[in-house]
Amino acid sequence: MKIYCEKDYEAMSRRVAGIIAAQVILKPDCVLGLATGSSPEGAYKELVRRYQAGELDFSKVTSVNLDEYKGLAGDNDQSYRYFMNKHLFDHVNIDKSRTFVPDGTEADEEKSCKAYNDILRREGPVDLQLLGMGFNGHIGFNEPDSFFEKETHCVALTESTIEANKRFFEKEEDVPRKAYTMGIGNIMQAKSILVIVSGEGKADIVAKAFQGPVTPQVPASILQFHKDVTLVGDQAALGKLLG
Ligand code: F6R
Repeated sequence: MKIYCEKDYEAMSRRVAGIIAAQVILKPDCVLGLATGSSPEGAYKELVRRYQAGELDFSKVTSVNLDEYKGLAGDNDQSYRYFMNKHLFDHVNIDKSRTFVPDGTEADEEKSCKAYNDILRREGPVDLQLLGMGFNGHIGFNEPDSFFEKETHCVALTESTIEANKRFFEKEEDVPRKAYTMGIGNIMQAKSILVIVSGEGKADIVAKAFQGPVTPQVPASILQFHKDVTLVGDQAALGKLLG
């Protein structure tokens, strides 16, 4: 595993954007696996800046997002489709019809998951998968469990995830209780994986995920078995891992 320890969030975001930009330049028709949340926001901003400076061309890129809240439509400002449009897709020349996010509006869980697995099979493999990590070690919305779920599935969010995500909603009751997410198997099929972590609050789980036992109780620990993982973090988040 490659580790980049950057001094703060801005430096971390520039590093992550640089790695994604390199992927797009080296393979203009690449498939990017994308994440939402506060960790990648700065990197998306930097990618938009580079696009506007004429350094990047997204016209042939395909993207697949990790997850989406069940019940939220793309025009809901809390949906992950909305997040992606707002932070990246609306500002670069990516073909929106080539950007895929699980369909949160599909009430039939089996149908929604099958449709997304079909998309992943058709468009994959992902060249570069971006991942954030939850305080409990979740990746995508793969919450701690007794086994690793392989493919796209519908999950009930844990209290800790609802607690962490309520900052984006007006009231805690507004946080959806379920989400569609790529499975661990889908994530592990990516050719390379780029993990971003920031803030002291992540320090314990980052050390556990990369130095502790591989267990579905810490979903990110499975990344120890992937052959091409890059971890980019700020000093606060990597403090315990690097000692
Ligand atoms: C988001 C996702 C989640 C987040 C994780 C960390 O698409 O899949 O796993 O990456 O919850 O979120 P932040 O970056 O907000 O700390």
